Amino acid sequence: MEDQEFQNKIKRLAYSSILYCCSLMLIGFVLLLVYLNVIPINNSNDYLDNSYVIDLDFKEPYQAYFDVSFLDDSEDNLEIKFGYELFKNTPNYIGPNNDNLERAYAGNNLSCNNCHLYAGTKKYAGPLIGIIQRFPQFRGRENKIGTIEERINGCMERSMNGRVMPKDSKEMKAIISYMKWLGRDAPEDGKFEGTGFLTIEIPKRPVDLTKGESIFSNMCSVCHGENGGGEKLPNSNVYKYPPLWGDDSFNNGAGMNRVITAANFIKGNMPFGTTYDSPVLTDEEAYDVAGYINQQHRPTKPNLELDFPDLKRKPVSTPYPPYVDDFSIKQHQLGPFQPIMEFYKMKYNMIKKK
Ligand code: HEC
Ligand code: HEC
Repeated sequence: MEDQEFQNKIKRLAYSSILYCCSLMLIGFVLLLVYLNVIPINNSNDYLDNSYVIDLDFKEPYQAYFDVSFLDDSEDNLEIKFGYELFKNTPNYIGPNNDNLERAYAGNNLSCNNCHLYAGTKKYAGPLIGIIQRFPQFRGRENKIGTIEERINGCMERSMNGRVMPKDSKEMKAIISYMKWLGRDAPEDGKFEGTGFLTIEIPKRPVDLTKGESIFSNMCSVCHGENGGGEKLPNSNVYKYPPLWGDDSFNNGAGMNRVITAANFIKGNMPFGTTYDSPVLTDEEAYDVAGYINQQHRPTKPNLELDFPDLKRKPVSTPYPPYVDDFSIKQHQLGPFQPIMEFYKMKYNMIKKK
């Protein structure tokens, strides 16, 4: 009798030990899978609060470590952090309403981050990783070799509708430090898959403004507003949803005001959350909505006739004259672009993509 009970006890003990060991092994196995990244954790897509996945063990630039909050407060790191902060919340430092008007280099309240998404690290959203290595660079708009500071000022005078930010200002230095840090592991020539924007296949017809308008109201206005004016964060100059047109938008000299460039950006990035590998809009839709946005009222940049001293280098979708061809301004704004591209191919042997 006692023997029997003892045996039962042993059996129960054996069973529970086996169960215990099995559970441990299972937990171990699951942890191993997580470690090997078979079961991904922390796959948050909530990029608005900036909690994107960071992989220390990077093999290409995008997976590198781009979170400035991990940097200590050395003097160099503080400059990098300021550059990041300025890039994300630009109007607080150089916007028209910041509290030091001498520093109001920007003429609108956009942030660099509004177009160079995820603080300049998103593939096909004009990422700035490796940008320091990609400069100096030949620039058609000025017809000369340009420095990185001049390129940044290109966005200051156009995308930000502002004025030149001096090369030795603390703001310019901080932006450059941030970009250097972003590219610290980029290839020597700064080139890799994902720079610039996606390229759509340009429809062989003019932009359809009626379709563009309906795409805008169905898919964009929920964030950017029915009047395209965007929406600011509460009690802030910084936009939650940036304006696509109106007085606080980029001016008519900006790259985003060219239909082809805007369509390329929109295709890989909008509606917000879209990534290059699963675009939401068709090429036709991106083209029509880009054309619609670019036809709306926005600030005008003075002296645009001085752009492109060598006029044949002007992108075909540059919306303002003069041109060295006989196509109308309207066709340069709304297409069809293939005949213009063919003209430059025939006459100057130049291949135009934008
Ligand atoms: C309204 C959108 C917009 C804003 C805001 C903007 N940019 Fe840009 N930026 C662009 C576009 C579009 C291009 C590419 C233009 C082209 O293809 O000609 C570009 C290109 C650049 C480049 C060159 C990128 C490369 O790969 O060659 C740099 C550097 C740059 N921007 C920096 C900035 C900085 C710094 C700010 C903030 C002060 C800023 N941009 C604000 C739209 C914007
Ligand atoms: C869910 C909200 C949302 C929707 C929907 C959306 N956007 Fe955006 N859009 C944003 C945000 C947010 C940014 C700025 C990104 C940042 O700062 O991180 C932006 C930036 C842009 C920009 C560049 C910045 C500027 O001011 O010009 C363009 C152009 C743009 N969106 C066009 C579109 C178009 C076209 C659609 C519709 C096809 C669209 N967006 C739909 C949220 C949205």
